Amino acid sequence: MKILVIGQGGREHALVWKLAQSPLVEKIYCAPGNPGIAQIAESIPMPARFIELAEWAVSEDIALTVVGPEAPLAEGIVDTFRERGLKAFGPDKRAARLEASKDFAKQLMVKNGIPTAAHRTFTDIEKAMAYIEDYNAPVFVKADGLAAGKGVIPGRTFKEALQAVKMILVDKAFGDAGDSVVIEEELIGEEASFTVLTDGTYCLPFVSSQDHKMSHDGDTGKNTGGMGAYSPAPVITPKLHDDVMQRIVYPTVKGMADIGRPFKGVLYVGLMITDAGPKVVEFNCRFGDPEAQVLFPRLKSDLVPLLIACIDETLEQHAADVQWHDEAAACVVMASGGYPDPYQTGVVITGLEDADAIEGVNVFHAGTGQDSENIVTDGGRVLGVTAVAGGLHDAIQRAYQGVSAIQFADAHFRNDIGYRALERD
Ligand code: AMP
Ligand code: GLY
Repeated sequence: MKILVIGQGGREHALVWKLAQSPLVEKIYCAPGNPGIAQIAESIPMPARFIELAEWAVSEDIALTVVGPEAPLAEGIVDTFRERGLKAFGPDKRAARLEASKDFAKQLMVKNGIPTAAHRTFTDIEKAMAYIEDYNAPVFVKADGLAAGKGVIPGRTFKEALQAVKMILVDKAFGDAGDSVVIEEELIGEEASFTVLTDGTYCLPFVSSQDHKMSHDGDTGKNTGGMGAYSPAPVITPKLHDDVMQRIVYPTVKGMADIGRPFKGVLYVGLMITDAGPKVVEFNCRFGDPEAQVLFPRLKSDLVPLLIACIDETLEQHAADVQWHDEAAACVVMASGGYPDPYQTGVVITGLEDADAIEGVNVFHAGTGQDSENIVTDGGRVLGVTAVAGGLHDAIQRAYQGVSAIQFADAHFRNDIGYRALERD
């Protein structure tokens, strides 16, 4: 069969890499793709309107479309493809609200008794300010809508919280995404990412993973899309796993079906493991990035039938056969100097082949571009250097070996990916 993947980041490179291993797959297209993806799939331009891509997919007899990022899901790409009789993996527009509106997600959690941080939502700056003053403790201030992972601002002091609210509601730093603001209690604990596939009823958990959101070592600096990841995440014990499935995952999927918004696709739950148990920090409606880069190398089974089963509502029939590699995986993101603030692009990258040649190492491209003869930087997160090995310690070491083989001016990466897991050893 022919497959179309939508997106252009490290997550999509990992997805294409995994899908290409399926004996069911004859050819993969990627819109728009990146130079790494272009080594295994044919890149096609992303047209201005979804309908143009859907019509192309009909004419090319595309059997499955896999949507990587949240923005096209929130804008209804799956609906457009479905209307044309195409199979597209991911939630439709109504279900993607779970990520596209934090207030929507909060209301769903409150209604279904799903553990999460206490919150209030405001559209009015005066009321928001009065609430913060009255609350008088650290909060997290969040733009309601999609803000490319940048719409969450810690308000550790009264002043910081007020500035964040003003930035979102008045200065409109995130545009319409900031028409309302969610103010949350601060949760204390260790974070973990919990990924499940769901067909709207049945939920198939992936192995655990954890990312590192802060830009610098020791979880300092600024919030980013993710500077690295590893799997398994030992913080998710078997007991916690069951707890998350019973108290969070199933009630969420059932809650969505109950309000006529059946959720099919990837449910990614960002968790905080607090003293009072796991609590939801956020929901995403797609694979995590860089988490996908450590999950797919660990999946032994063919991904294609699982994605199709989510669309066809037959996931339970496949669940018993899903197998994972015992090896651990680690991904170190190499970013452009300055990221998440403005950075330079067009910087020549060398050593990619040397890194790929190291046993167990895969270099996934994220923000790369191609000039006349070189692979160059073209984004904030440039590469995800991923390695698998018998244990986490070795996987991390190998990933850093890969990183040392790669050079580009001003490259920035964290030196402590996986440190929490190693501290547990
Ligand atoms: P989000 O985009 O909602 O995942 O938020 C980005 C990051 O901010 C999370 O990964 C957490 O590290 C942090 N965060 C968000 N909300 C909270 C909260 N209520 N308490 C503590 N940390 C939070
Ligand atoms: N790594 C966090 C995310 O994908 O949202």
